[in-house]
Amino acid sequence: MTQHDRLLIIDFGSQVTQLIARRLRELNVYIFSGGPASVFAEGAPMPPKGVFDLGVPILGICYGQQVMMHCLGGRVERGHGTAEFGRAYVTPTEERLEILEGWFADGREQVWMSHGDHVSAIAPGFKVYGTSPNAPFAITADPARRFFAVQFHPEVHHTPKGAKLYENFVRLAGFKGDWTMGAYREEAIRKIREQVGDQKVICGLSGGVDSSVAAVLIHEAIGDQLTCVFVDHGLLRLGEAEQVVTMFRDHYNMPLIHADESDLFLGALEGISDPEVKRKTIGRLFIEVFEKHAKSVGGATFLAQGTLYPDVIESVSFSGGPSVTIKSHHNVGGLPEKMGMKLVEPLRELFKDEVRALGRELGLPEAFIGRHPFPGPGLAIRCPGEITREKLDILRRADAVYIDQIRKHGLYDEIWQAFAAILPMRTVGVMGDGRTYDYALALRAVTSVDGMTADYYPFTHDFLGETATRIINEVQGVNRVFYDCTSKPPGTIELE
Ligand code: XMP
Repeated sequence: MTQHDRLLIIDFGSQVTQLIARRLRELNVYIFSGGPASVFAEGAPMPPKGVFDLGVPILGICYGQQVMMHCLGGRVERGHGTAEFGRAYVTPTEERLEILEGWFADGREQVWMSHGDHVSAIAPGFKVYGTSPNAPFAITADPARRFFAVQFHPEVHHTPKGAKLYENFVRLAGFKGDWTMGAYREEAIRKIREQVGDQKVICGLSGGVDSSVAAVLIHEAIGDQLTCVFVDHGLLRLGEAEQVVTMFRDHYNMPLIHADESDLFLGALEGISDPEVKRKTIGRLFIEVFEKHAKSVGGATFLAQGTLYPDVIESVSFSGGPSVTIKSHHNVGGLPEKMGMKLVEPLRELFKDEVRALGRELGLPEAFIGRHPFPGPGLAIRCPGEITREKLDILRRADAVYIDQIRKHGLYDEIWQAFAAILPMRTVGVMGDGRTYDYALALRAVTSVDGMTADYYPFTHDFLGETATRIINEVQGVNRVFYDCTSKPPGTIELE
C-alpha cells in the first residue's frame, strides 16, 4: 500500500468542514474547522490536549481561530454588532505572510464570513496580517510556531483566493497531493464489487446528475445485477417523467422500472405543512416503493442512491461530529432505521462538481451533466405550506416558463440552480377590469460550485420584468411574482 501524507481535520461541527477535505484530501497537518458552538458554551468542542505541542503546522478557521486564541492565551468575546455573515473585504497589514502568497494583488481580497463571537485579543506570539471592517483579527499568525488562524472561511467558493491559501499552507507543510478522479473511479468500482458480491441491486434513479452517475458507475461495476427504479412521486416538473424514461431507454442499456406512485405520495402528504414532516414522509414512502420493487426483481438486497456529501453533512454530522441538523435530506435523514436493504452510496464523499467530473470520466453526455440539480423531495419543498394538486399544477407551469426564459436568454449554464416556488398566500391584483385573488410565486436562481454556499443570481430588471409578465399572462392562478435575493448562508437554496 502507498503511504499517503496525512492531514487531520478537527471537526468542531462546521457545515462546511468537508469542503476543507474537498480542497485538500490527503495531506499532513492539523486544521481546526469552524463550528456552530461558542467557546463559552458548556461542552463546547475543544482540540485534543497536547495538539499545540506537537510541532506541526496548524490552521484554525472561524471557530477554530477562536479556539486557538482561547487555548493559547488570547480572548474571545460575544457582543452586539460583532456577528458577521456573508461577504467582507480583507486588507493586508505591513508584513507579509507565507500562506498569503498570491493574495492582495489588488490591495484587498473578498472573503466569506459566518460568525457570531469574535476574537478581541490575540494570543502571545501572534500578529495580525489582515483586517476587515468588522474583524480586526481577520488573519492572524505565529509564523515561528507555524500557527495560522483566520476568522473567515477559506474553503468556500465565495472566498476566491481561499484555495490559494490552502495550497500555500499545504506547501509550507511539505505535501505532494495525489488524489484524482480516475483513481476515485477505480477505487469506487472495486469497493462496489466488494460490497455487493453476486447480490442484486436496485438504484433509485431521479434523472438528476447524481443518481445517473451513481447508476452508470454501479453498472460498470456489476452489470446486470443492477436494475434502476424511477419513482414518479407526483412532485416532478412538467414533462420530466417522460424525458427521463425516454433518455434512459435511448441512451443506456439498463433495465428500468417506471413506477407511477403519485397517488401514494400526494395522498400521504395531504394536510402536511411542516417541512421536516414532509421530508420524512417522502423518504419513508420512497423506501416502501423501493422495497416493493426489490422483491419484484427477484430479491435485491441492496439499494443504491446518489447521495452526495452535502446531503450527508446537512443531515447528520460526519463521523459523529457536533454539526447542527439543518434539513433531513430525503435520502439520508428520512431513512427508516430498520430498512430491509443495505445501502450502496458510491458518491457519499463527493461534492457536486466532483460528481460532474466523475460523470465526464464515465463518458456521460455533457448536456446531461450540465443539468441543474433537482432535489429528491421534488416540488414538495418548493411549495411551503400545504401541498395540493392545484398548487403543484400552477407551480409546474410557472417553473417551465421561468426555465424557458432562462434558456432563451442564454443564462442556463451560468446558473447553478433556478426554480419557481409557490408561496402559501394569495394576493389581490387587477387584470383587465377585474379583481384577482391568486397565488404569489417566488423565483429563485443561485450561483454555486457545490451547493454548500450560494449567491443569488443578479438578473437584470428587464429580464425579471419580462419573466414576471410572461408567467402571469401564461399561467392562470398567479397574479404576483417575487424574486428571492437571499444568499446561502443565511438562506438555503430550497425554500424548505
Ligand atoms: P439547500 O436547500 O439545503 O440545498 O441549500 C442544497 C442543494 O441540495 C438540494 N437538495 C436536495 N437534494 N435531496 C436531494 O437529493 C434532498 O432532500 C434535498 N434537499 C435539498 C438542493 O436542490 C440544492 O441543490
